[in-house]
Amino acid sequence: MIDIKKEITNIIKENLDVSENIIYNNINEIKESDKGDYTFPCFTLSKELKKAPNIIADELRDSIDLNNIIEKVESVNGYLNFYINKEVLTKEVFKEYDLQKENYGSVNIGNGKTVLIDYSSPNIAKPFHIGHMRSTIIGKALYNFYKFLGYNVVGINHLGDYGTQFGKLIEGYKLWSKEYNIEENPIDELTKIYVRINNLCEEDNDVLERCRNNFKLLEEGDEYCVSLWNKFKELSLKEFNRTYDLLGSKFDSLKGEAFYIDKMGEVIDILEKNNKLTLSEGAKVVDLSEDGIDTPCIIQKSNGSSIYATRDLAAILYRSRTYDYYKNIYVTGSDQILHFKQIFAVSKYLGLDQKYIDGLEHVPFGMVRLPEGKLSTRKGNIVKLEDLLLDSIKHAKDIIKEKRGDIEDIDDISRKVGIGSVIFNDLYNSRIKDEVFDLNEMLNFQGETCPYIQYMYVRVNSIIKKYDKNVLLNEIDYSKLNDEQSYNIVKLLYNFTDIVSMAATKSEPYILSRYLIDLAKAYSAFYNTNKVLSDDIDERNARIYLINIVGEVLKKGMNLLGIQMPEKM
Ligand code: ARG
Repeated sequence: MIDIKKEITNIIKENLDVSENIIYNNINEIKESDKGDYTFPCFTLSKELKKAPNIIADELRDSIDLNNIIEKVESVNGYLNFYINKEVLTKEVFKEYDLQKENYGSVNIGNGKTVLIDYSSPNIAKPFHIGHMRSTIIGKALYNFYKFLGYNVVGINHLGDYGTQFGKLIEGYKLWSKEYNIEENPIDELTKIYVRINNLCEEDNDVLERCRNNFKLLEEGDEYCVSLWNKFKELSLKEFNRTYDLLGSKFDSLKGEAFYIDKMGEVIDILEKNNKLTLSEGAKVVDLSEDGIDTPCIIQKSNGSSIYATRDLAAILYRSRTYDYYKNIYVTGSDQILHFKQIFAVSKYLGLDQKYIDGLEHVPFGMVRLPEGKLSTRKGNIVKLEDLLLDSIKHAKDIIKEKRGDIEDIDDISRKVGIGSVIFNDLYNSRIKDEVFDLNEMLNFQGETCPYIQYMYVRVNSIIKKYDKNVLLNEIDYSKLNDEQSYNIVKLLYNFTDIVSMAATKSEPYILSRYLIDLAKAYSAFYNTNKVLSDDIDERNARIYLINIVGEVLKKGMNLLGIQMPEKM
């Protein structure tokens, strides 16, 4: 499609001695206004050109040559406002749809570059808690965005499958496995064993010693310990997969922390060789004060064992070599900001090509606040994501039943609405904000919610089905779409790719979710003023073609967020 900002840049450039980039980046879209479509503020140029902004704008207005795309220009208080030819823009959007159909808006700016998304990454034998839900949902959305933009994307579940707690679990298992139904209910039962063995360790030093020894044996590859560890991992994954199935998550790699056990030696060697390791209370650490980080990064504890950070450093080395990544993105809670600052700083001393250091990105998010009541965290009883999701599906079903009675496919629809609502709610605000998990709010059909968009989508589809005629591009009379509501939709549709691109660049899925709400609202306004199946056949065809694209973009946009759309509801 034509790049309108570029077109505007070109005609300004002919009359202004300022770099193209500066002009381009200054141009903004005007939202919901009758003062034009794009604006170029002249304030920042004022100093350089030694002229008042309104004078610059006036002079530009008088000297600019209009063309078939830009049909009018106005100077208003230092802003230069541009009016785009509606028909030209509508044609662009329609042509793109005719060409790409359900892939409308997808591009290949990724051009073969590889983006790694390290997300979800729960810890084995521990509950999949609500923080991991956010990582799973945000990570998956970013994964989809980059795919849509033509990148090669690898989703990595960096499982927490390593640590001294496994020595304890092995001991607990040895002592009490018969008392617990681990196969049936792995995570709950293993958690109970873990709590119990921890208590015992506090009272009995011999037990603690045995646990430590188990961990040592595990590290040395002892057959029995490794087989138990494998069993814990398998059973945990089986349970995690139930949650992943609900959310529709799949991973390309499940290489967790344990994968890096034999790769940490190299990290220590390189840092040693580069004189970066210092001793601090017996531990080997990298001092990061020069990087503005007060807390040194521990690489090896005084007892010789590695830590979480060491394994992450080994993973950076491994990933640079294995994937030649363009970006290596980590999605975790904001409590890990320091951790990632540290390992990104240390990675500068690993002898890596600069591009691999530049490609590191941490995407932190805020906490989830649960409403009081049965979902709130009780002592020793962490809320499991699976329960939350099932609860939301049930809630959705109750609402749909109340509104529509026992409709066909109600289970499938409730699932799409219930799960979609949890995802949409998670992605509706800047990710660093704490999230409020309130089922009543997120399942409100009238709010800025998932079901609101799903419902609009279903309405679009029902009209299209009713008409039951495939309108062709060359049948369109563009003059039938000159009204404000139609044009608002066209402008939104034109922006779709840019929106996804911005959401990816900023790692902020809310940019897309809010856009989809805007589009659904614009559709609603259009529908209220325009009869789609009008008696005028040209009007009818043009409107049907337009809402076809609306439906396609609503669906694609929601899919990119990780949400499925019902065909009826
Ligand atoms: N397992 C960690 C946790 O639950 C998250 C891992 C994130 N990824 C990473 N490469 N450190 O907190």
